[in-house]
Amino acid sequence: MLIRIPRNGDPLPSEITPQAVAGSRRLFLRQMAAGTLVAAGAANPLLAAAQAQRARLQALRNPKYTAPDKPTAFTDATTYNNFYEFGLDKDDPAKYAGKLKARPWTVRIDGEVRRPLTLDIDELLKLAPLEERLYRLRCVEGWSMAIPWIGYSFAELMRKVEPTGNAKFVEFTTLADRAQMPGLSSAVLDWPYTEGLRIDEANHPLALLTFGMYGRVLPNQNGAPVRIVLPWKYGFKSAKSIVRIRFTEAQPRTAWNRAAPEEYGFFSNVNPDVDHPRWSQATERRIGEDGFFTPKRRTLMFNGYPEVASLYAGMDLKKFY
Ligand code: MTE
Repeated sequence: MLIRIPRNGDPLPSEITPQAVAGSRRLFLRQMAAGTLVAAGAANPLLAAAQAQRARLQALRNPKYTAPDKPTAFTDATTYNNFYEFGLDKDDPAKYAGKLKARPWTVRIDGEVRRPLTLDIDELLKLAPLEERLYRLRCVEGWSMAIPWIGYSFAELMRKVEPTGNAKFVEFTTLADRAQMPGLSSAVLDWPYTEGLRIDEANHPLALLTFGMYGRVLPNQNGAPVRIVLPWKYGFKSAKSIVRIRFTEAQPRTAWNRAAPEEYGFFSNVNPDVDHPRWSQATERRIGEDGFFTPKRRTLMFNGYPEVASLYAGMDLKKFY
């Protein structure tokens, strides 16, 4: 995401190393030349085995949240990832996240709440009935997928912990463990990866506390054992491998905003009318559809989830990007 063009030859502090940029480009060009971005993953027997070994997760499909899109192939969704704790290239998470120990795992929920909780992941998972929802996820880099996620609305958890009247925001902190995450040696972000929402955004039923995808628990590279999925926002808001959820009065600082505030705002709603400073956000390529001659898709306001529009009534979304 952070690929800066050096001005006057001086790299900025938040710039990704040139080597990493070159690596990402090389991978992309290789994949383009192959006519698909996922051919390698599809043929990878290790991935198929990893999928088979992961526990099944029972969930009722919620027809209210079923995008009309064709689901992205499982191999695509698990081999083309952003999870910088495991490296900067798209295939690094699939290569290196195998080391992540997703159980036992605890999540602390605290801050401005009446009932703070520290829960084992399997207790958190059972806090509300699991649903399967097919959501589109649009990355700020201009690619998208449609994934059958499994989880429950974050609002269910909010009800259990009872935010106080001072709670105006929610902060998500994710795991930063050098022993398990080789990408932490890179200074691309100020670890741990943190993200945040305004409390009414967090309370919107679309915000999904997510434990699984494609009928099974989350693969490590997709954010095991628990992540948030916010389909109307750029993908980087959907923090993976969460260890702490804190309700706050002040707006939390977030990893990408800290690294490049002029490029990544706090809200980061998908908005085809507001360009990223270095590229247009008007169109996207759907992973799995990216042959040389496949036209790009038009990006939709709020990624095609107009039900969230009322959260931003009266706000200038060019200013609050
Ligand atoms: N969460 C953590 N902890 N670290 C990351 O690097 N990358 C984000 C988001 N969550 C990221 C993260 C970005 S940029 C995107 S696009 C999505 O995860 C990608 O999710 P996916 O790999 O399941 O498609």
